[in-house]
Amino acid sequence: MQNDDEVCLCFHVSQRKLIAYLRRTKPRVASQLAQCLDAGTGCGWCRPFLNKLHQQWQQGEPMGLTVGRASYAEGRDRHRAKSEDRDQG
Ligand code: FES
Repeated sequence: MQNDDEVCLCFHVSQRKLIAYLRRTKPRVASQLAQCLDAGTGCGWCRPFLNKLHQQWQQGEPMGLTVGRASYAEGRDRHRAKSEDRDQG
């Protein structure tokens, strides 16, 4: 994933914005990333990846997701399809 790619596809929040937010606000827990343009508050697919970025930041590691953009988007499509199946009972 490149920095301009969106991590939160629901709210169009790029990896670059999330990294800048982490550096600027130093959130104590990953869920506080929701305050960055509502990241993670839609379908929920990106939450584990938000956790990963937060963990990298906390541990002083280079920040960035290694997943490819296309497979990431496909994973989210599958996640949303499963959620819709569940919602329809
Ligand atoms: S991709 Fe972030 S909440 Fe759906």
